[in-house]
Amino acid sequence: MEEHGKSRVAVVSGGGTGIGRAIAHALAADGYEVFVLGRRRAVLDEAAQAINDALGAERAHALCADLRQPEWVAEVARQITNGAGTVDVLVNNAGGNFAAHPQNGLEGVRDDWRTNFEGNVLPAVLLTHALLPRLRRPGGRIVTIGSIAAFRGPATYGGSKAALHPWSAELAVALAPEGIAVNVVAPGYVTETEFYGDRMGQELHEDRCRRAPAGRGADPSEIAALVRYLAGRDAGFVTGQILQANGGALLGRG
Ligand SMILES: NC(=O)c1ccc[n+]([C@@H]2O[C@H](COP(=O)([O-])OP(=O)(O)OC[C@H]3O[C@@H](n4cnc5c(N)ncnc54)[C@H](OP(=O)(O)O)[C@@H]3O)[C@@H](O)[C@H]2O)c1
Repeated sequence: MEEHGKSRVAVVSGGGTGIGRAIAHALAADGYEVFVLGRRRAVLDEAAQAINDALGAERAHALCADLRQPEWVAEVARQITNGAGTVDVLVNNAGGNFAAHPQNGLEGVRDDWRTNFEGNVLPAVLLTHALLPRLRRPGGRIVTIGSIAAFRGPATYGGSKAALHPWSAELAVALAPEGIAVNVVAPGYVTETEFYGDRMGQELHEDRCRRAPAGRGADPSEIAALVRYLAGRDAGFVTGQILQANGGALLGRG
């Protein structure tokens, strides 16, 4: 995708696996130069290579960083914009449930809140603020991946995702006059990710599927499709929203 002869640029945090990888693939297929960010170099390199091989074009680029750390974030922002470049689409997808079970007294309670807050809020907030001066005006897009957990728990993970709602709303109001749209996409259970780590197995998978009236989890591509829509030119008037994709799971099974 080109505008005035220049490639359009997308940044996807956590783009090496799961939902982020599907988003990176979808945006690269739409013609964006896509920077995929994460902490594991080998995972990012493999993802970027697979996307480029599938598309037959060098559109995905791996950048390694722990996005909880301001100095890493500043460095990747510098590499992405390379002095004067513009970012068209920023997808804040990096995150997860980092609570360690079982909890160990008050220190455990504090640590679960702290690690989830740091792991879900800081990557989105720091990366956004680092790239904000470089976002396309008008036409830029910020999409942050929240969660159904923000509406119903689990508490420390859901609470950290819920913190992204007022932050995103405030940004939407502040950036609307500059032509930048800011939204949250809140998935329910999504398959084919590393989110559940070693805990995922047939039993847990079936339990998560049962919770949704649709009777299944989402494929990562179904979440990517929403992000692709929000990133597109036709979605410029959609801002300040939380778009949920959960197969009806918040409604229960009736
Ligand atoms: N799977 C679900 O059912 C589900 C449902 C609702 C919402 N979500 C949300 O969807 C998003 C994507 O998760 P996923 O399901 O695709 O799971 P995932 O496969 O574990 O993806 C999370 C990605 O974020 C990266 N990441 C985590 N912390 C990071 C940090 N500090 N700095 C840089 N990268 C970091 C991870 O890579 P490294 O470990 O290499 O850094 C990984 O690639 C998360 O925000 C998650 O909370 C998932």
